[in-house]
Amino acid sequence: MSNYILECQALSKVYHDATAKIEVLNNVDLQVNPGELIAIVGNSGSGKSTLLHLLGGLDKPTSGKVILSGKNLAEVTENEKCRLRNRYLGFVYQFHHLLPEFTALENVSMPLLIGNIQPDIAKQKAERLLDMVGLKNRVTHKIGELSGGERQRVAIARALVADPSCVLADEPTGNLDMRNAEMVFRMFVDLQKTLQTSVIMVTHDRRIAEQADRVLILKEGQLLGV
Ligand SMILES: Nc1ncnc2c1ncn2[C@@H]1O[C@H](COP(=O)(O)OP(=O)(O)OP(=O)(O)O)[C@@H](O)[C@H]1O
Ligand SMILES: [Mg+2]
Repeated sequence: MSNYILECQALSKVYHDATAKIEVLNNVDLQVNPGELIAIVGNSGSGKSTLLHLLGGLDKPTSGKVILSGKNLAEVTENEKCRLRNRYLGFVYQFHHLLPEFTALENVSMPLLIGNIQPDIAKQKAERLLDMVGLKNRVTHKIGELSGGERQRVAIARALVADPSCVLADEPTGNLDMRNAEMVFRMFVDLQKTLQTSVIMVTHDRRIAEQADRVLILKEGQLLGV
């Protein structure tokens, strides 16, 4: 059994359109160590989001394996895959994907309630995470009543609330101006270090990538060290 939180072996993904086949990933290997922050950079269309989707079990590879907590995702049932994903992974997207009509607290509680945690315990835990991202005084605001940076911080609190082993973040600060992006990123890193969570972060921002423990570049289907 693997000691890695999350791992992929010889991962390939090919898309077919009407006329051509597009080889987006070609034999990609990646091992994620506990508490590690990995930045993935690469040109638009190089396959970064595709890779994160495969690692998160949200899409299936053409060939190769994704191993989450020692389990090959291709060999478990759909239910088991959902359970593994909820138990071990958190997700942050470029555009937060929060529920606009619900409060910050309700959004952050959601993964715990889905995991059958008692509502009062879920509430306490969500309040703690919102406090940690500096939103103690915005708990009962609806998402629509928050600024862009505040929404992104709610999304980070939501990704971390169920104590995942690894967070997959696809340009989590991509929709923010430079100052806010830096602030949200710093807070995210402080939190992942405190909580000892691994993070795989896709980013276009070179200054952000430079602060990661490891920077990998996706180019012509290959994932390379820089
Ligand atoms: N469902 C799909 N069907 C066919 N081709 C796809 C599909 N999804 C992605 N692609 C193609 O695969 C390639 C990689 O896409 P992907 O979204 O992973 O790129 P990316 O590196 O995340 O780019 P960006 O930085 O712009 O977000 C692109 O050329 C895209 O057109
Ligand atoms: Mg992308």
